[in-house]
Amino acid sequence: MSKQETVIKMEKESKEPKIMDLPGVGAATAEKLESAGFDNLISIAVASIGQLVDASGVTESVARKIIQAARDSLDMGFETGVSLLEKRKQVKKIQTDSIMLNQLLGGGFETGAITECFGEFGSGKTQIGHVLAVNCKKEDETVKAVYIDTENTFRPERIRQLAEGSEMDVEKTLKNILVAKAYNSDHQMLLAEKVEDLIKEGNNIRVVIIDSLTAHFRAEFIGRGTLAERQQKLNKHMHTLSKLADMHNVSVYLTNQVQADPAQFFGDPTKAVGGHIVAHASTFRIYLRKGKKNSRVAKLIDSPNLPEGEAAFVVENEGIKDL
Ligand code: GTP
Ligand code: MG
Repeated sequence: MSKQETVIKMEKESKEPKIMDLPGVGAATAEKLESAGFDNLISIAVASIGQLVDASGVTESVARKIIQAARDSLDMGFETGVSLLEKRKQVKKIQTDSIMLNQLLGGGFETGAITECFGEFGSGKTQIGHVLAVNCKKEDETVKAVYIDTENTFRPERIRQLAEGSEMDVEKTLKNILVAKAYNSDHQMLLAEKVEDLIKEGNNIRVVIIDSLTAHFRAEFIGRGTLAERQQKLNKHMHTLSKLADMHNVSVYLTNQVQADPAQFFGDPTKAVGGHIVAHASTFRIYLRKGKKNSRVAKLIDSPNLPEGEAAFVVENEGIKDL
């Protein structure tokens, strides 16, 4: 397959049909359908003719056509092993200068996947984010990184230092990092949704960093009563990020805080914020802690195909290195 064919194929795959794309559905019908709860293709594909007629006022024969078209346009979710293997070949691994850390992750931070990194303050989560923003373009200068900064900890000076440490063009490196400050959780979610537009506009985005994933959510939803709502929003956010990783072969890197886990009496009494929602949506999960002699220890605790293990590294001016 030529490069152009690959691009066309990827565009085809990434084009998600909308209700308005269905034959016989204009703006007015779409609005009626949506307000009756038929706001996505799946809900229409599984609806009965009578339900659609009631909801939108179209004739029975039009309703039949709409349902059929919705069914046809839906990729029902089966992919062959061959096409999945082909997809795996497109996976790129973004490396740090720590061989141990790369090895722990099976070669580096994967594209097409979400890697969540959680740990206490100063454990190196933000530093890894900066390193990924720089290192993703080591092989290909056109590659860009998106950095969604929620805690105001992105530092261009640090990017300069890291780029210099890798003998990369500082100016070009900085130009290819698109930074956005998220002011609250809604803004953060919107920014994540906008990344797809950036890709469609032709930006070659390989990494999306969200530092921190959970800080706004944690600050805005306080108390037990708001937990369900928070988790629902987080779930939606994670869904956007999963889709981004999967459809556009992007490496999503998320940082997450830890909170005291009163149920844990032995071992490390901390757990990641966001609970199962974040944990399940993440492909790789790394627990970071401070080690001896100013080192950091990364522990891989969840991965589809790699053994659990640990890697020690140090954060230096030039980057992340082996101990
Ligand atoms: P929180 O966001 O507070 O939860 O922490 P974090 O896990 O994001 O920690 P971060 O990545 O900010 O790590 C901070 C540590 O990285 C510091 O304690 C330093 O050891 C190291 N560090 C940060 N900046 C530099 C730098 O410019 N040079 C070097 N050599 N080390 C740095
Ligand atoms: Mg940080």
